[in-house]
Amino acid sequence: MEILDIIYSRRNIKSFKSDPIDMEQINKWLQAGTMAPNHRMTEPWEVYIVGQETRAQLNHKADFWNAPVVLAVLSKHGATEVETYENILATACFVQNFNLAAWAEGVGTFWSSLGNNLQKREILGVPDGYDVIGVFGVGYPDEVSQPKERTIIEDKIKYLP
Ligand SMILES: Cc1cc2nc3c(=O)[nH]c(=O)nc-3n(C[C@H](O)[C@H](O)[C@H](O)COP(=O)(O)O)c2cc1C
Repeated sequence: MEILDIIYSRRNIKSFKSDPIDMEQINKWLQAGTMAPNHRMTEPWEVYIVGQETRAQLNHKADFWNAPVVLAVLSKHGATEVETYENILATACFVQNFNLAAWAEGVGTFWSSLGNNLQKREILGVPDGYDVIGVFGVGYPDEVSQPKERTIIEDKIKYLP
């Protein structure tokens, strides 16, 4: 697929097939994540591979829509507020690299923000000094939703003198 086809066809997936995914594949897409832009090369992302016991405790959305793999992506705080903010931005880029690399091979992701909840953070064992960017179900989609319409970009562009 061409890059634009990958970007336009990607969806947040809410129904997965049970087909397993090799961890080698997951690692390949995560490695692609690490090519994300990140200011001062802080490489702030950390990834938890969430096992069945923890998934059961999280008890979220029909066990992440039965995704064969669940990942939590964390972003390490920086030395300053600005660095922490930039680290979050970089980790979001990491996530999207992962999402698109996986999608290019037919594997979708479900992005859940449940990791921001204090109780869920505890279940995940997230230490202080980290933001949880998301908890992701990853798998072959059983259903791919129609695209959600976006505002045309011309409506969001401002021309400065
Ligand atoms: C930071 C962030 C948090 C999100 N959290 C959730 C979530 O908790 N639950 C959910 O169903 N989707 C979540 N999403 C996915 C969006 O709802 C989804 O991307 C949006 O509806 C557009 O759909 P699409 O990705 O299929 O184009 C999140 C996306 C982002 C970027």
